[in-house]
Amino acid sequence: MKVTVVGAGAVGASCAEYIAIKNFASEVVLLDIKEGFAEGKAMDLMQCASLNGFDTKITGSTNDYTKTANSNICVITSGIPRKPGMTREELIGINAGIVKTVSENLVKHSPDTVLIVVSNPMDTMTYLAHKVTGLPKHKIIGMGGALDSARFKYRLAEALGAPISDVDGMVIGGHSDVGMVPLTSHATRNSIKVSEFISQERLEQVKEDTKVGGATLTKLLGTSAWYAPGAAVSGLVQAIACDQKKIFPCSTLLDGAYGLSDLCIGVPVVLGANGIEKIVEIELSAAEQEHLMRSAEGVKKTNSLLNL
Ligand code: 2OP
Repeated sequence: MKVTVVGAGAVGASCAEYIAIKNFASEVVLLDIKEGFAEGKAMDLMQCASLNGFDTKITGSTNDYTKTANSNICVITSGIPRKPGMTREELIGINAGIVKTVSENLVKHSPDTVLIVVSNPMDTMTYLAHKVTGLPKHKIIGMGGALDSARFKYRLAEALGAPISDVDGMVIGGHSDVGMVPLTSHATRNSIKVSEFISQERLEQVKEDTKVGGATLTKLLGTSAWYAPGAAVSGLVQAIACDQKKIFPCSTLLDGAYGLSDLCIGVPVVLGANGIEKIVEIELSAAEQEHLMRSAEGVKKTNSLLNL
């Protein structure tokens, strides 16, 4: 199982590290445009192999896509992260050109790859990847909902005073500060609806804290987060690499599901060896459906800024 991660910055390197530690991939290629940077990160990570007990071979490349040839899964993390006060959508001007070039180069050397897009504005970058690569719909996946759901569970556990292992919850919709849809009506504490334990008012606060989870960290860190984004995308990679048939909220090109078409936005999907094996349509409350529609309008507005 060969995995390529483009972008050896904090998110890409964290993703590579988590993939290696999970030890399901034979090889991870880390690629960056900065001379020697990916090679250095790969060597540093490989020097953890005996300490962290993995046999995955991590190599680095300075912009040589021949080294990525025949990758089963390719992850795009390249592009600039946001600064405090910025929205993810404001990154489109620089990141669209980067994601276009990277997508084309990856598919040229790995025509059968599954492509996972992380770069922001992620839903629009995922849509762009479809337009420039022509890969089958099920082979292009945007990672945002898995990260947002992890933040949702963190905030739910905090509100419940419960261990995170007892909490389940999902965030769908756009990966944006205003467009996320935390599904509070579905969230549970060990299969019991969380509304049995916390008030609607407290749940609303959990939703709002979840939606700005990324911006909260950007304010604290001075740049975008990387540990949870890296961990979230490594979970998607593992589900595909190991054909786990796990459900994640992922940004995928819709053609009628949830009443939406011609955009990529986060909905529950089953991930397996073929990438997106199935889109799962679930019952949403009227408010959740309305939020999803509003979120889709926001994503389409950002998509319209692409010069396709
Ligand atoms: C985040 O929310 C980078 O979009 C990513 O942290």
